[in-house]
Amino acid sequence: MKRCTNEMNIGFFDSGIGGLSVLREALALMPNENYLYYADSDNTPYGTKTRDEVKKLAFRAVEFLISKGIKALVIACNTATSASVEDLRKAYDFPIIGMEPAVKPAVARSLNGGKRVLVLTTPLTLREVKFRELVTRVDPEHIVDGIPAPKLVELAERFTFDGPEVEEYFREILPWDKISCYGTIVLGCTHFPFFRDTLARILPQSIDIIDGNRGTVNHLYDVLKSKNMLNPSNKPGRVLFFRSGVPVEDPLLLEKYNRLLRS
Ligand code: DGL
Repeated sequence: MKRCTNEMNIGFFDSGIGGLSVLREALALMPNENYLYYADSDNTPYGTKTRDEVKKLAFRAVEFLISKGIKALVIACNTATSASVEDLRKAYDFPIIGMEPAVKPAVARSLNGGKRVLVLTTPLTLREVKFRELVTRVDPEHIVDGIPAPKLVELAERFTFDGPEVEEYFREILPWDKISCYGTIVLGCTHFPFFRDTLARILPQSIDIIDGNRGTVNHLYDVLKSKNMLNPSNKPGRVLFFRSGVPVEDPLLLEKYNRLLRS
């Protein structure tokens, strides 16, 4: 493995563009770091695959990022975290930060108001033991419901975040007959924060919409700081993008990625 220096990259990976919603938080908090972003677009979506398939893809992505030189890894994907974080941590000795749906803060908020929590995730995240254990740990009153929303991943990969197709899908999957029972909706997939504005428009204003991105990035910062691994440079860092191992050079696609990072 290459020698680790603090100027080295922080590797981010996701099945596609979802992890950009995490990377944009990282850029806001740590603009002087250098980042590699791996979108596994040849293999998206992960959420409808098996655990073993996703684990294999996660190792492939991480091996690629290691070959380019990383000092830490963010699995910017709830689904890949569920399927692979434990095995990745056993295999590698650099810091590995995973995602977890923000169920804990959602339960705290909703309990206060006597409301329920609705978690939107991929099908794989929802059926994984990691998610069930999380809910068991933080939801003693049984106020959490989960629903899979796989089509949002497909829509996001087409950069379709609003419009009739998106609204119709939300009309189809959300429990409208009891929507006023919910106080918080958790976006438990990193592709979903890009739909926040559309959701906010169609949901009652009383429902909070939250995700775990800020918490993950704060944790990344704390880990790097505690290990003295933050980049000491005071110049802005850079982001390099890869699609399933191939550098992204198409200016139109780069512009779309960068637009999401600025959104
Ligand atoms: N963005 C991913 C997540 O957070 C996975 C989406 C997919 O490929 O199904 O779960």
